[in-house]
Amino acid sequence: MRTVEWHEGKVRMIDQRQLPWEFVLIEFDNYTDVARAISEMVVRGAPAIGAAAAFGMALAAQRFDATNRLELLRYLEEAAELMKSARPTAVNLMWAVDKLVQVASHESLARVKDIRKEMLRAAQRIADEDVLINKRMGEYGATLVRDGDTILHHCNTGSLATVEWGTALGVIRSAHAQGKKIHVLLDETRPRLQGARLSAWELTQENIPFEIIVDSAAGHMMHTGQVDIVLVGSDRTAANGDVANKIGTYMLAVLAKENGIPFYPVVPTSTVDLNIKSGDDIPIEERSPEEVRAPFGNAITPDEYPARNPAFDVTPHRLVTGIVTENGIVYPPFNINLKRAVEGTLIEEVTTVNGEPGDGTQQLSMLDEFYLDDGGEIE
Ligand code: MRU
Repeated sequence: MRTVEWHEGKVRMIDQRQLPWEFVLIEFDNYTDVARAISEMVVRGAPAIGAAAAFGMALAAQRFDATNRLELLRYLEEAAELMKSARPTAVNLMWAVDKLVQVASHESLARVKDIRKEMLRAAQRIADEDVLINKRMGEYGATLVRDGDTILHHCNTGSLATVEWGTALGVIRSAHAQGKKIHVLLDETRPRLQGARLSAWELTQENIPFEIIVDSAAGHMMHTGQVDIVLVGSDRTAANGDVANKIGTYMLAVLAKENGIPFYPVVPTSTVDLNIKSGDDIPIEERSPEEVRAPFGNAITPDEYPARNPAFDVTPHRLVTGIVTENGIVYPPFNINLKRAVEGTLIEEVTTVNGEPGDGTQQLSMLDEFYLDDGGEIE
């Protein structure tokens, strides 16, 4: 099932705080609660946050009793501001909210009911596209994984971090589906333990062999020849290829370089922020020190011990071997080739599939008109 979806007029999510112990679904009936669910990490992972925010915006339009178009658009501006403030690093959140506001403000939509309908359709489209994009990244990325490989993975980048399938974990899923015998080392990912709780839960469902390691074991595993490739996700990738991802990713990239191991972030183009030139300008979320002192309410230090909790770090592009996108695998120079992948142009020059040039005709349409059509009704 999908991590986040529209269900009988509400936004429904898997409560990721409860996994792997309990599988709980929560329904949200107003957009402020959706924003809170994002900041409290009921839903997390950049693409899943984006889809949740898109449905949250659609929900805002459905619930507000507007008498005219302008009144609704003003209300949506407020909703957009609150939604975007839920978490600062994952650019998919801003991307999805902006997309929904853009659809709502389209001049062809004069009536409140048309705006509501098109916003819901656009949110659904973002969710559906996410699944297609992940499967395409999975196919491209799986060309990097050889039979018998051990893959080191950080955080959770699977179905739970997206709408379905996953980014880096999606590549692992695709390689497994192709019959490759792979083994996965899962960083536990302190302090929220997305690796130990969520990635391990997903790989168990898929019967993909894995072992959980503490984050600080990664260097030892690499140095002793127990890792063939490192696959991670991203919350925001700058125009020059600097990659912001879950705290600890930078350390992995340095260790991978030191040990001659390929390091590939798997990044949908909705996570690439071409407005940000380098990783220095990516806002890094600092979460409560309480998550460090007492993960999931289990105190490991006295309350008064000072702690810091940066949730993300930036890996400089010089440490990145290549970036897997839905438009192919991008190699340096990233400042040129990443833009091409985002625009979906000159795809054959920046990608290879199984060693052959990629086929530009396989691109997905990410044009704005795509979000404004008169396709089927949404329940
Ligand atoms: O704090 P989280 O759990 O939202 O962080 C998630 C990650 O860092 C993922 O690697 C990233 O969102 C990309 S995975 C689709």
